[in-house]
Amino acid sequence: MKGLILAAGRGTRLRPLTHTRPKPVIRVAGRPILHYAVDNLLEAGIEEIGVVVSPETEKDIREALSGYRVRYVLQEEPQGLAHAVAVAQEFLGESPFVLYLGDNLFQKGIRRFLQAFQEGVSAVIALVRVENPRQFGVAVLEGERIVRLLEKPKEPPSDLAVAGVYVFTPEVFPVIQNLKPSARGEYEITDAIQGLIDQGKRVVGVEVEGWWKDTGRPADLLDANRLLLEELPSRLEGEVEASQLTGRVVVERGARVVGSTVIGPAFIGKGAVVEGAYIGPFTSLGPGVRVVRSEVEYSILEDHAVLEDVALRLQESILGVGAEVKSRNGLPRAHRLILGDLSQVELA
Ligand code: TTP
Repeated sequence: MKGLILAAGRGTRLRPLTHTRPKPVIRVAGRPILHYAVDNLLEAGIEEIGVVVSPETEKDIREALSGYRVRYVLQEEPQGLAHAVAVAQEFLGESPFVLYLGDNLFQKGIRRFLQAFQEGVSAVIALVRVENPRQFGVAVLEGERIVRLLEKPKEPPSDLAVAGVYVFTPEVFPVIQNLKPSARGEYEITDAIQGLIDQGKRVVGVEVEGWWKDTGRPADLLDANRLLLEELPSRLEGEVEASQLTGRVVVERGARVVGSTVIGPAFIGKGAVVEGAYIGPFTSLGPGVRVVRSEVEYSILEDHAVLEDVALRLQESILGVGAEVKSRNGLPRAHRLILGDLSQVELA
């Protein structure tokens, strides 16, 4: 069994964060999203792992995965999930494989889906119950067998949506070869699965256990960060001075927390500085972040972001790499903003 992680998307819904770096390397609870995917595959006993990257994402993805032994497959253009599988055919060879969307998180890993992959099964699809099935690929089941897949149906036949993990046999390749692009111009994996079903192949659905998160939009990132922090044990490796830490808090090596209040769960990354500050629940600070005389909660501050002397507490916020929010002294009393394309600011 091999693993194939897809990480060649454009990440348009996460702009401007994804203008400069790919979505799967954004940190949640202190680690790049992609690490959770690789760990889940390894934990399921899959050691031959390929990662599909694009010319734009390759450098950052390689850097984020430098501690792992994986193979890289280049997809020149993100022409759809099925297209990404097709470009990896040489790597996958005759082996069955797990297809794993690089921006998806599964609380309980993926073993469950592999267990359902037995003799005579052509594909296993992870399914999750959702409140808004109109926004997903939705499965129609007979017993455990999927008899139809509908993409974003107006009248959903069930609340079982397709999550981002699949197990396939090489039988899927000829089906992908015959696919036509969808209305949005992509080669869709749902069409490939429907193709298998139409050939009478056995495609089974297995419900996700625990939570599942697709980190497509900013609110999803914050929620994923919260869910992962809920499970993170305390770890104090940095320096803590004249500060009050409550609940589960990670302070990584080289980080300094001085004269501050931290209420966990919270993550303070390597070399971060927290001074005269309040760090509230569900907050992750990346490496080298500075929070000085300011308050922040339910937020993600990426590497080297700065929050300094800001009077009002920051909440539900994401600061990208090197982003700075500071107060301005003197007159006129005005906001001064230098925002990248598609940035979002809500001022109180
Ligand atoms: P999507 O979330 O469908 O696409 P995206 O990541 O580009 O985001 P957006 O819709 O905001 O532009 O993709 C799911 C995962 O699959 C994601 O990790 C990127 C990856 N992917 C590829 O590797 N190749 C592709 O051709 C596509 C469409 C996605």
